[in-house]
Amino acid sequence: MAGQKALAAKLAKVAEEAKGCTRCSLYRNATQTVFGEGPVGAKLMLVGEQPGDQEDIAGHPFVGPAGKLLDRALADAGIDRTQVYVTNAVKHFKNEPRGKKRLHKKPNRYEVEVCKVWLAQEVSLVKPALVLAMGVTAAEALAGRHVTLARERGKELDFGESQPGMVTVHPSSILRVPDRTARHEAYAELVKDLKSALKVLQAA
Ligand code: URA
Repeated sequence: MAGQKALAAKLAKVAEEAKGCTRCSLYRNATQTVFGEGPVGAKLMLVGEQPGDQEDIAGHPFVGPAGKLLDRALADAGIDRTQVYVTNAVKHFKNEPRGKKRLHKKPNRYEVEVCKVWLAQEVSLVKPALVLAMGVTAAEALAGRHVTLARERGKELDFGESQPGMVTVHPSSILRVPDRTARHEAYAELVKDLKSALKVLQAA
């Protein structure tokens, strides 16, 4: 326990440092750094791409529409979100102002690369038993190589740390599926991947 307290204190210090991050230019258009959240020692770490509009305003990861879908999928898979560490590969919201709206823009390779310093510290301090990347941006940041979702989803991957990694879809991609039936199927696949992650954890 004492060890966990020390790790939590270190993680809080890293989160504080990340608040002032100017390693790339994304901080200029964002409200704030959105650092990961969840308990140190969480068995499962979920990694998304970057905070969205609502996360940027709230300062918390996965609280907007994608977060609501993720909450439902976690519950359907029998996973308690309060026991999971949830973070993103990139800690600032990359967007393009368009009238009153801010359009989400995909982070480029450089932005993902310089942001890895935060993700690496989260992984090494939280020490999860499994890291589940949600989407290719997160998977590639963790694996340090090109990742093909269709081929690699559901398998155990090497994310360069001692714990295994896995990849699933990004919850936002499900929200973008136009056809209702296909959307339900994509959602069911996400729940299936979360259940597979749970199985890996139970076997660990
Ligand atoms: N999409 C992400 O990748 N992360 C969030 O925190 C919210 C939406």
